Amino acid sequence: MIAITGASGQLGRLVIQSLLERVPAEQIVALVRDPGKVQDLAARGVVVRTADYNQPATLTAALKGVDKLLLISSNELGSRAAQHRAVIDAAKAAGVTFLAYTSVLHADTSTLGLAAEHRDTEAALKASGVPHVLLRNGWYSENYLANVPSAVEHGVLLGSAGEGRISSAPRADYAQAAAVVLTTEGQAGKVYELAGDSSYTLTELAALISQKTGKP
Ligand SMILES: NC(=O)c1ccc[n+]([C@@H]2O[C@H](COP(=O)([O-])OP(=O)(O)OC[C@H]3O[C@@H](n4cnc5c(N)ncnc54)[C@H](OP(=O)(O)O)[C@@H]3O)[C@@H](O)[C@H]2O)c1
Repeated sequence: MIAITGASGQLGRLVIQSLLERVPAEQIVALVRDPGKVQDLAARGVVVRTADYNQPATLTAALKGVDKLLLISSNELGSRAAQHRAVIDAAKAAGVTFLAYTSVLHADTSTLGLAAEHRDTEAALKASGVPHVLLRNGWYSENYLANVPSAVEHGVLLGSAGEGRISSAPRADYAQAAAVVLTTEGQAGKVYELAGDSSYTLTELAALISQKTGKP
C-alpha cells in the first residue's frame, strides 16, 4: 500500500494520477481531511482515508497497513513543522517502511525563510530512523502563471527576484518524480534536488509574456 498525504491538493492529485499509471488503484491510499473532496478517486478504486495533521489519532488509524508514504508538505506555514512531525511519529508507530517527503530545493543551505520548516522536517525524518527519501522540489511554474492575466492587463510584472534565475517546473513533473520514487526500489537515503532543466529571470519572463500576448 502506498499512501499520499495532501491527496486532495493540486500536487497530491497529480501524484495519484501518475501512480495510477504504475500500480493498481487498490494499492493507493489517498489521505485527506475531507473525503468528499476526492469522491472521483474513490470511484476509480483508490482507497480514501481521513487524516488530519492536527489530529494525531486520525494519522495512526489512517496509516494502518501502509508500506510506503508520501508526506506532501502542509500549506499551513508556521504550523507545518509540528504537523509533519506528527505524521512522521504516526508513520513510525504504524510500521511504515519507507517515507518520501516533499522538501524545498537545497533545503540544507537555502536562505529562504520557507526553508526552516523543511529543515526541521528533514531532521525529524533523520532522527526517526524510518528509511526515507527527500524530494527537494523547486518552484512550480504555475506560481508564475497565476500572475500573467494581471501583468497583461496592467503592463507590469511585479517581483523582487532582481536578476535571480528561476528553474521552475510544472507540478506534474514533480508529481511524476514522486510516483517513480515510490514505485522503484533502492530509493532510501537518496536526496533529489528537483527543478526545471532551464532557468529564466523575471525580466525574461516579462519579455516572453509580451511576445506571446503582443502587449508590452
Ligand atoms: N514548490 C512550490 O512552488 C510550492 C508552492 C506552494 C506550495 N508548496 C508546498 O507544496 C505543497 C503541495 O502543493 P499544492 O500545490 O498541492 O498545495 P495545495 O493544493 O494547497 O494542497 C495542500 C494539501 O494539504 C492538505 N492539508 C492542509 N492542511 C492539512 C491538515 N491539517 N491535515 C491534512 N491535510 C492538510 C490540503 O487539504 P484540504 O484539501 O483539506 O485543504 C491539501 O490537500 C504545499 O502544501 C506547500 O507545502 C510548494
